[in-house]
Amino acid sequence: MRQPKIKKSPRSATIAAAFDRADAYHQAAETQKEIARRLDQRLAGLPLTVDAPNTLEIGCGTGFLSRKMVERYPEGDHLLTDIAPAMLSRCRNNLDHLPGRIRYAVMNGERPVLPRRYHLIISSMAFQWFENLPGALQRLAEHLEPGGRLLFSTLGDGAFAEWRRFCTDHSLPFGRPDYPTRTELKALWPQDGKGVTEEEHLRITQPSALDFLRHLKQIGAHPSGPNHQPAESGKLRAALRHTHPEGFEVTYHVLYGMFQKSPA
Ligand SMILES: C[S@@+](CC[C@H](N)C(=O)[O-])C[C@H]1O[C@@H](n2cnc3c(N)ncnc32)[C@H](O)[C@@H]1O
Repeated sequence: MRQPKIKKSPRSATIAAAFDRADAYHQAAETQKEIARRLDQRLAGLPLTVDAPNTLEIGCGTGFLSRKMVERYPEGDHLLTDIAPAMLSRCRNNLDHLPGRIRYAVMNGERPVLPRRYHLIISSMAFQWFENLPGALQRLAEHLEPGGRLLFSTLGDGAFAEWRRFCTDHSLPFGRPDYPTRTELKALWPQDGKGVTEEEHLRITQPSALDFLRHLKQIGAHPSGPNHQPAESGKLRAALRHTHPEGFEVTYHVLYGMFQKSPA
């Protein structure tokens, strides 16, 4: 099926292209898979207003969370979306055999173009790529049915703290985008409902800092923040020669957001 062209800013085009190239995402993104599982556990504890919900997923990637949501609501009507067409195709291939009403669309989740409202909007590890998180939350909440829920996981300010320290120690710029603190996220809830936040710190170990950077590239998560000045390549190469006999530990500071729109 041909997908309509969507309007992308230069930054979102870079992000979409990086994920389009991430052929190994589904095999390599173990942390993202675990975070999707943890978000789904939170979903399990939240009653919806209907048994057969209209659901929307933003940034579905290869479908870790999509599969759980479709299996949890087999009678639902599911719209799975992503800004990267190749990620959406991978998702479709992975979920091909699942019964149920599942549709797919290339869409920028920050600027949703949608014909209806949803009982549930979910997203795992995509909002950290947004250029304007407060505006996006507001727009997504407008697409919720009364009493509908928005659930997501994203990165918090403590994400990749060890890489930040490594950059400071080697006088390199820290290239990751800015992520909100839990307190900052709490201040972003739209007016017409109630939100709750939770946070976790997941630690993974890579053999070295270079392996950490290679891993980010492998899963398409390497584009740097919008105002990042790249490091001099010689200086970066020299720093990355540094070895880590115990491995290079990296923290994923994960924020979970759970919002319910006021009932009518
Ligand atoms: C780290 S992956 C997470 C994928 C999946 N949700 C998971 O848990 O494995 C981030 C995904 O968000 C998508 N993405 C990034 N920015 C987006 C945007 N503005 N709108 C929709 N999707 C976006 C990427 O293309 C990618 O598939």
